[in-house]
Amino acid sequence: MKEKLQQIQTSVEELLKQISDISALENIRVQYLGKKGELTSVLRGMGSLSAEERPQIGALANKVREFLEKSIEEKKISLEKAARANNLKAETIDVTMPGKISPNGKLHPLTQVMNEVKDIFIGMGFSIAQGPDVEYDYYNFEALNIPKHHPARDTQDTFYVNDNIVLRTQTSPVQVRVMEKQKPPIRIISPGRVFRSDAVDATHSPVFHQIEGLVVDKGVTMSDLKGTLETFLKALYGKDARVRLRPHHFPFTEPSAEVDVSCFVCGGEGCRVCKNEGWIEILGAGMVHPKVLANCGIDPEIYSGFAFGLGLERITMGRYDIDDLRLFYENDLRFLQQF
Ligand code: DAH
Repeated sequence: MKEKLQQIQTSVEELLKQISDISALENIRVQYLGKKGELTSVLRGMGSLSAEERPQIGALANKVREFLEKSIEEKKISLEKAARANNLKAETIDVTMPGKISPNGKLHPLTQVMNEVKDIFIGMGFSIAQGPDVEYDYYNFEALNIPKHHPARDTQDTFYVNDNIVLRTQTSPVQVRVMEKQKPPIRIISPGRVFRSDAVDATHSPVFHQIEGLVVDKGVTMSDLKGTLETFLKALYGKDARVRLRPHHFPFTEPSAEVDVSCFVCGGEGCRVCKNEGWIEILGAGMVHPKVLANCGIDPEIYSGFAFGLGLERITMGRYDIDDLRLFYENDLRFLQQF
């Protein structure tokens, strides 16, 4: 039995030298130390030993078991260490390899300029108001002093949903909605989509964007309008930009004006972009018509206001020297990536 125990120890020693993976190690453990293992069956045979032999053999058997357990555990640790080292080696990152470039998304040029316009007005204390794209005839026309059969309707080719409902042709109806709900002082801009049944070409699209502005309070004058627009246009086009108001007519403002900015390409000398005029028309504006104030329940004897409306596509085209409106809506990445 003594020999048998020693033999177990030497063969395990031998086996451990040969193996190089963890599962083989586990097999060895089961083969010798398991319930049906070789050491265990030797120990079972101890019952047949004499009373003198038993403690001797027992002590030896314990020593052998300790040896087996210890050397198997040591082997396990060294195998694991080797496996880890191997893994690290296999996973080494080559920091000199070229990276994968993932393309950045960007905001659409119209969104960029829209955000810029919003920021400028928010900086001047305006807040943002929204209205529906599908609008009542009343808000889009009637309340804005454009009765049925008024010739001004002809200048805005309207998509009619039915006799009373249209796709809004301008953002001006939001003025009315705001004035109905909110008493002065009012200082809002309203950006949004507008619709006109125009054929698509380089300067026309059935869907485009406007930004409406409205200020109503006691004692608001035309010079407040001019100062506000000058501040805005200088923020948008640089402090050297000059602003000019030309008399015009809109049914919802009196007096009305068209507003030009000195050409931001040539500075006013005359060039291709301003068609040699030195000025570029940017927006429509005026003092809110007393009838419009009254339509919204605001007493024109006490309050006055100004309003303006600008086209987002037009200022974005000017800003980036884009000569065809359709480029905004085609989503051609070669175009969009330039902004
Ligand atoms: N709604 C006008 C248009 O679509 C633009 C406009 C002009 C808006 C004058 C205004 C304004 O608020 O006062 O052509």
